[in-house]
Amino acid sequence: MAVRQNRLLRLATAALHLDSPGAPDRAFTELEKVPVMSNPSDTKEAAANAMWGGRFAAGPAEIMEQINASIDFDKRLYAQDIQGSKAHAAMLAAQGIVSQDDADAIAAGLDKVLAEIEAGEFSFSRALEDIHMNVEARLRELIGDPAGRLHTARSRNDQVATDVRLWLRDRIDHLDARLAVLQEALISQAEQHADAVMPGYTHLQAAQPVTFGHHMLAYVEMIGRDRGRLMDCRKRLNECPLGAAALAGTSFPIDRHATAAALGFDRPTANSMDSVGARDFIMEFLSAASILAVHLSRFSEEIVIWASDRFAFIDLSDAFTTGSSIMPQKKNPDAAELVRAKPGRIIGALVALLTVMKGLPMTFCKDMQEDKEPLFDAVDNLELAVDATAGMVFDMKPRRDKLKDALAGGFPTATDLADWLVRVLNMPFRDAHHVTGSIVAMAEKKGVDIADLPLEDMQTVAPAITGDIYSVLTAEASVASRTSYGGTAPETVRAAAADARRRFLTE
Ligand code: ARG
Repeated sequence: MAVRQNRLLRLATAALHLDSPGAPDRAFTELEKVPVMSNPSDTKEAAANAMWGGRFAAGPAEIMEQINASIDFDKRLYAQDIQGSKAHAAMLAAQGIVSQDDADAIAAGLDKVLAEIEAGEFSFSRALEDIHMNVEARLRELIGDPAGRLHTARSRNDQVATDVRLWLRDRIDHLDARLAVLQEALISQAEQHADAVMPGYTHLQAAQPVTFGHHMLAYVEMIGRDRGRLMDCRKRLNECPLGAAALAGTSFPIDRHATAAALGFDRPTANSMDSVGARDFIMEFLSAASILAVHLSRFSEEIVIWASDRFAFIDLSDAFTTGSSIMPQKKNPDAAELVRAKPGRIIGALVALLTVMKGLPMTFCKDMQEDKEPLFDAVDNLELAVDATAGMVFDMKPRRDKLKDALAGGFPTATDLADWLVRVLNMPFRDAHHVTGSIVAMAEKKGVDIADLPLEDMQTVAPAITGDIYSVLTAEASVASRTSYGGTAPETVRAAAADARRRFLTE
């Protein structure tokens, strides 16, 4: 095995024409007999890059083109790239840096490029590396010389930073709207089931009765904070890097405030080096995205548990479940399971970008091109996860009988019993806790719930207990008593749902 690996390694090394001092010549002889990839150090027949190749005698190696090109993924930024270029050209004309005629030709040409891309008629070229140069090269084909003036007083460094900010700002707005839909689904479940009692859990052990509505509203709050985090990120990213040029600013009399305003930014970024060297807006987004993904994952885990045949707390709709190819009785919560899994790639994207950025010197380094694929993947999957969750929640049918049945056996009203001892008998809570423990042990021994334990039995532990105790031992009485702000009483849940609508779902 080791021998074989060494041989393959030698062949690969030879194929790359890397220096391999220890490699025996035999590898090269063998190479001729084995079909391997085309020699990666071959330069393309094409001459040096038309956009920046002034000082290059030859084109890049095939492998160089492959590792260098970002067009396969950054073509998603075409609309933002064109929008930014139009704003830049208009500003250049307004400042007298290019003629109005040239700016008009550039704007018309860019509209044409946009139309071509949207009609699927644009042919993207890897040799042109990225979306910025693809667009500009086509512009030149369409309008000729004026196209060459567009890149005055800017660089791809400020251009890409601007494009990604524009793109992400838009995605955050979409995500926010989708999260509002998810909150709507949760709130409407809360309103319908504000009084459906069920066990509330700690340690996944039945703890105290709560209502299904209250449980739904817990997630409304989490999602509300997720929206807040995304909006904070949006606020901070909404500054325009365009005009920072490569890193040092420009000697042309540009108006960065004008381009910032034209693109809907709050202001231009204040430091040209930071403008092109920073990606913390993406790290911040992916951090917020990771927390959101974790929230959705936790909720999904509950959906999986609730939909299991042992719990049977909810019915999921056919629309968000799948059947088994072999077991006809199965209805699997696949959507919930996939949402549960999504943090894998979303947290992965965050870790990937943090790792790429760690230790990078100022300012732009090509490393930073690696920001886009994780970002795009995270956004795509997050949007999908949010929508799937909202769909499941809208369709989900809680089974109120099962929710209530689940309260039997776990003594979830033991705290109510202790509270009654404190309130009515003025017992110190610590003593009440102890007395209640003894009563629970007695009920357990008899195999009954504490609500069904005879008064005489309870009185053997605490003689002052009266029949009034039974009024607090049902789940309904228990939840109804919890009217403290943020508590689970049905009337409190209804008020909280109305409040949540006001806080989260009105402009
Ligand atoms: N494709 C590059 C990126 O995604 C654009 C910026 C390139 N700048 C440069 N000087 N090569 O970050």
